[in-house]
Amino acid sequence: MAEEPAVCAERHGAVEMLVLDRPRKLNAFDLAMLTELDAHLARVAADRDVRAAVLTGGSRAFSAGADIRGYVDASAVELRRIAETAGAVCHRLAALPMPTIAAVRGLALGGGFEVVLACDLVVAAEDASFGLPETELGLIPGWGGTQRLTRLIGVHRALELILTAGRLDAAEAHRLGVVNRIRPAADVVPDALAWAEELTHRAPHALAAAKTAVRAAGTESGFTVERELLLGLYATADGAEGVRAFAEKRKAVFGGR
Ligand code: COA
Repeated sequence: MAEEPAVCAERHGAVEMLVLDRPRKLNAFDLAMLTELDAHLARVAADRDVRAAVLTGGSRAFSAGADIRGYVDASAVELRRIAETAGAVCHRLAALPMPTIAAVRGLALGGGFEVVLACDLVVAAEDASFGLPETELGLIPGWGGTQRLTRLIGVHRALELILTAGRLDAAEAHRLGVVNRIRPAADVVPDALAWAEELTHRAPHALAAAKTAVRAAGTESGFTVERELLLGLYATADGAEGVRAFAEKRKAVFGGR
């Protein structure tokens, strides 16, 4: 019998919501679930009608990370395949052209937190808890977490969290800039959807370029990336519309061209 899907998709206007749905395992990612998520992300990346995306999990856990049980008997080749697939999923997520919002309730641990770190914005529940506990297992984060967390909060704070296998509660995660908004658990998904909907009215090429430029921050070439992206936007219909609408004192309507 075919396995139940572990990732579900819902469409809300121009917002795509992906729901991690393997609750018995607290949404721990095995290879099948990673492959499912990757297929959804590839579909979303190619769909010009999707202008923003929300990624969420369950009420107890966004995700408790990699499926550790699958590691027990895995060969070196299988372990590499899982790590490379997961890394590619996080890269694909970070590289989506539209804004992405992680809506986090409960636990976001290990790979679950690394997936959150690959999103653009984070709405967290008051009970949300973030951590990279891999050193507890004698391992390290391997899905981009050491890189993305360090860029976000700095070397010393990232090392403190990783070396001690510590946890960030929602308030601390907000203070450190890991989380944008804290909401009561019941409001997290509606708030993320409403925020995503607001973003769907903004110029898609400009948002995609802003994402690329911000993610190039910290590299010397980031300055050139930023300028060249801006020059490209001057040539888009939306770029012309935004400038014209300002001059004509009206609200711009962005068609995504
Ligand atoms: N991989 C595989 N299974 C996992 C999992 C993971 N990362 N996290 C949770 N599960 C499973 C548990 O094994 C359990 O399944 P079972 O009932 O078949 O035994 C189920 O999810 C519920 O978890 P449980 O441990 O009973 O819940 P809890 O509330 O007592 O503890 C955690 C929750 C998250 C603290 C605990 O499950 C845990 O430490 N998980 C590992 C987290 C981790 O190290 N992630 C990084 C992976 S690299």
